[in-house]
Amino acid sequence: MVTIKSKKEIELMKEACKVVALTYQELEKRIKPGMTTWELDQIAEKTMRSLGAIPAEKGYNIGIKGVPPYPATLCVSINDEVIHGIPSKNKVIREGDIVSIDTVALKNGFNGDAARTFIVGKASKEAERLVQVTKQAFFEGIKFAKPGYRIGDVSHRIGEYVHSQGYSVVREFQGHGIGREMHEDPGIPNYGKAGRGIRLEAGMTLAIEPMVIQGKPNILQLDDGWTIITEDGSLAAHYENTILITEKEPEILTIL
Ligand code: MF3
Ligand code: CO
Repeated sequence: MVTIKSKKEIELMKEACKVVALTYQELEKRIKPGMTTWELDQIAEKTMRSLGAIPAEKGYNIGIKGVPPYPATLCVSINDEVIHGIPSKNKVIREGDIVSIDTVALKNGFNGDAARTFIVGKASKEAERLVQVTKQAFFEGIKFAKPGYRIGDVSHRIGEYVHSQGYSVVREFQGHGIGREMHEDPGIPNYGKAGRGIRLEAGMTLAIEPMVIQGKPNILQLDDGWTIITEDGSLAAHYENTILITEKEPEILTIL
């Protein structure tokens, strides 16, 4: 079911989303070569809790048999890891890595969801371009995130743009509605046909999240039940914001 948020609910959504934005501000300041992904996770958890929010990914059950609840505040996915990398004391961030982070804050019963890919130190030109294209794919997609368009128009534009840049989109994971639940209807694929899917209406809150691979689109899942990597070992990037559909342009709630 697609939920339309009331004015009051939108105010609460904005608060949860602001916590996510502030968490990224802190992470961006603190991410350095030599750090472990576990240290990043600690920083994020402290930041969220100090802002009155709960890390919503921690303990989250994705609802697939045999997959354990997610154990951390952040998903941290480095280089050929696409999404859902589990923070670990054994995982050190190195100069030149591209580090995709995805996190969700729960505050006042509402969720805010965003992802960023950070370039640590100096990375290759090609890595920089991948990260830039992934971010731009989000902004291309939301040009269609308003009344008069359908979900398929957003999906189509994201896929079309990514493919025009010579990259692939992940097909097995997608964006989603968001609100009291982290994942609500509708699902929002990063590719597809224009003119399909539900009509967009003011008051919908959506997490739009291009996941882009440098090489072939195929992915693999590691034995931890979570980490997704590229099959061909090429780099991947992720960029996501929670947005609000309005009568005019969408509002991006997870950017300060
Ligand atoms: N935040 C992710 C998303 O963009 C969900 C990650 S699964 C979790 O939808 F278990 F880590 F929460
Ligand atoms: Co999401």
